[in-house]
Amino acid sequence: MPASAGPRQTSVLFVCLGNICRSPLAEGVFRSMVSTGELDDHFAIDSAGTGGWHVGSAPDPRSTQVAAAHGIALTGSARRIEQADLDRFDVILAMDRENLRHLERMAATGAHAHIHLLREFDSQGEGDEVPDPYYGGADGFEDVYQMVHRSCAALLEELSPD
Ligand code: 4NP
Repeated sequence: MPASAGPRQTSVLFVCLGNICRSPLAEGVFRSMVSTGELDDHFAIDSAGTGGWHVGSAPDPRSTQVAAAHGIALTGSARRIEQADLDRFDVILAMDRENLRHLERMAATGAHAHIHLLREFDSQGEGDEVPDPYYGGADGFEDVYQMVHRSCAALLEELSPD
């Protein structure tokens, strides 16, 4: 008998443009929900950007602040999505349609990952985008948090083990 393996993991990648505002927030929110549900062993969670301008940077302080206001600490530094991610992850969630198009171009020759807009899972605004808050004010980040929170709760429901 082989040594018993751990539970099968579902790997989830959140993708935006810069990987400093929206996708690190989505990663942190989803990670927190998974942890609350004691499902850490069932998920591998990460985020990435389609652009490379902020590679190595910490999350934007406005995302860190809105996350902290909701009891969530953001971790990690920005990285750019790479071709291997399309086969390494089971599910990839794009924040907006531009991110989605980028991912679909990368997946054009075939990919393991199922690619969706994150807000396909949002009961209030199903299929809408998580708007880029980078050039806006703090209100935009709270709005992003609410969309991401609703979407991640439904996503976790969908992906949770029976
Ligand atoms: P994000 O936000 O895609 O949610 O991380 C942005 C961050 C940086 C830029 C655009 C959007 N930028 O143009 O540098």
